[in-house]
Amino acid sequence: MEADPPVLGADTTPPRSFTLNAQHELRVEIDNEKRATITVLSGTAEIFGTELAVDRAYTFSGAKLAVFSWHGATVQIAGPTEVAYVSKETPMTSYVNTHAALEQLRIAAERMGSQSGPRVLIAGAGDVGKSSLCKILLSYAARSGRRPLYVDLDVGQGSISVPGVMATALVEKPVDVEEGFSNHIPLLYHFGHLSPDNHSLYKSIMGRIATAVTRRCQSDAHTRHSGVIINTCGWIEGPGFQFIMSAIDLFQVDVVLTIDSERLHHDIATAVNSSGTNNQVAVVSLPKSGGVVSRPQVFRRKTRNERVKQYFYGIKNDLFPSRTTIKLNDFVFVRIGAPPVPASCLPLGETPANNELKVITVTPSTDLLYTVLSVSASPQVPSNLQSLVDTNVLGFVFVAAVNMDKKELTILAPSIGRLPSNVLIVSAVKCEMQL
Ligand SMILES: Nc1ncnc2c1ncn2[C@@H]1O[C@H](COP(=O)(O)OP(=O)(O)OP(=O)(O)O)[C@@H](O)[C@H]1O
Ligand SMILES: [Mg+2]
Repeated sequence: MEADPPVLGADTTPPRSFTLNAQHELRVEIDNEKRATITVLSGTAEIFGTELAVDRAYTFSGAKLAVFSWHGATVQIAGPTEVAYVSKETPMTSYVNTHAALEQLRIAAERMGSQSGPRVLIAGAGDVGKSSLCKILLSYAARSGRRPLYVDLDVGQGSISVPGVMATALVEKPVDVEEGFSNHIPLLYHFGHLSPDNHSLYKSIMGRIATAVTRRCQSDAHTRHSGVIINTCGWIEGPGFQFIMSAIDLFQVDVVLTIDSERLHHDIATAVNSSGTNNQVAVVSLPKSGGVVSRPQVFRRKTRNERVKQYFYGIKNDLFPSRTTIKLNDFVFVRIGAPPVPASCLPLGETPANNELKVITVTPSTDLLYTVLSVSASPQVPSNLQSLVDTNVLGFVFVAAVNMDKKELTILAPSIGRLPSNVLIVSAVKCEMQL
C-alpha cells in the first residue's frame, strides 16, 4: 500500500529524545511562526523554576528556554526547533542558593511579624536573563508556600500584560510555563512607550506601584513576609542607572541581584553606600547562563506583536475576544505627555515647561489604527484630567479599523459588553499586524 503524501506545510520533524543528567539543562529555541511541544518522559525537570508534569506535552512558539533537571530526566521534543542541545553549564546552583538565602530572610521576617520579607531588585544589561531569574525566584518562592509580589518595570516586553505597561501581580503559584503571568490578576498602569523615554511618567508610575505594594504588604502578612521581586529593563547607563536607584529607593529594596556585570555591581554598591539611608542593601553579583540568548530586534518586534495578540486570544488561542464598533463621540481619548515647547517659541529667558505628565485630549484620526488603547479605571471623564496619570487601567482594546466618515472605531476587546470606562488612553505602542 502506498503511503499518504505529506500535507503541504505540515511539520515532518520526527520527535527527538534527550537524556539530561543531574544538573544539566536542555536549551531550546523555537521560532515565532513555529510550534513545538516538550514532554518529560521520565525523571524530574523544570522550566525557569516551574516543575513539569511527566507525560504532559507543553506547547511553545517563539520561545527560547532551558529545561533543567536537578536529578536527571528524559525529555522529548516534537516539532521544529532552531536549536536544541544539552549543556552541563548552568547557573542554577547559584540561583537556588539565592532562593535559599531569600527564604532565610522570609523566615526571619515571619518571626518578627511586622517586618517585611526580602524586597529584591534584579538588574543587568539587556539579554542577561533578568526576566528568567525573576520567574525562577518567584516560582521557587511559590513552591515554598510563599505569595510574593512581582513588579515588572520593563515596559518593552510587558511580561504581565502588554508592552508599554508597568504592572504588579501577586504570585500564588509557580509561573505557568506556557502562559507566563497571564493568569495572575494584575494592577496595571499605562506608560504608553516601549522604553522609559518619558522620565517623569516612568518615575511617577514607579511611585504609584510602590505605594500599592506597600499597602498590600501592610494588609497581608503572608505577602509581606514573602517579599517582592522587581524586574527592570536592560538600560543601565545614565538615566537607566538613575531609574534603578530610584526603584531601590521607592520600593525600599534590600537585596539587589546584578547579573553579569561587575561594573553595575560596583556602581550600585557604591551608590547605596553613599546614599546615607538607614536601609541596608545587599548587592549580590550573579552569573549569566550560557544559554541566555540575545534576541535580535526583529525577534523582539514579533514577540511584542505576539504578546498583544495573546492578550486578546490567549496563549493557547482559547479566548474569544469581542469585535465591536464604538462611536468616537461616546469616548474621550487622551494621551499622557506632550512634547516640550521649543525654546525658540518661548518668551526670552523662559525655560520650557516639563509636559511629561500633562494629560492632553487627542482628536481621533486614522492614526489610531492598530493602536493599543488602555481602558482607564476611572469610570467616566474626571473633572481634573490630570488625575488620570495616577489612575490605574483595567485592560486594553485594539483598534482594528477606523471609519472617520461614520466617526466609528472597530475595536477588539477582551470581553463582550460595554467598556467599563469612556476614557481611553492612547499608547504609542502599535501592534504591527491585524488581529
Ligand atoms: N538557560 C537558558 N537557555 C536557553 N534560553 C534561555 C536561558 N535562560 C534564558 N533564556 C532565554 O533567553 C532570552 C533572554 O533572557 P531574559 O528575557 O531572561 O533576559 P533579560 O535580561 O530579561 O532581557 P531584557 O533585557 O531584554 O529584558 C529569553 O528568551 C529567555 O527565555
Ligand atoms: Mg527582561
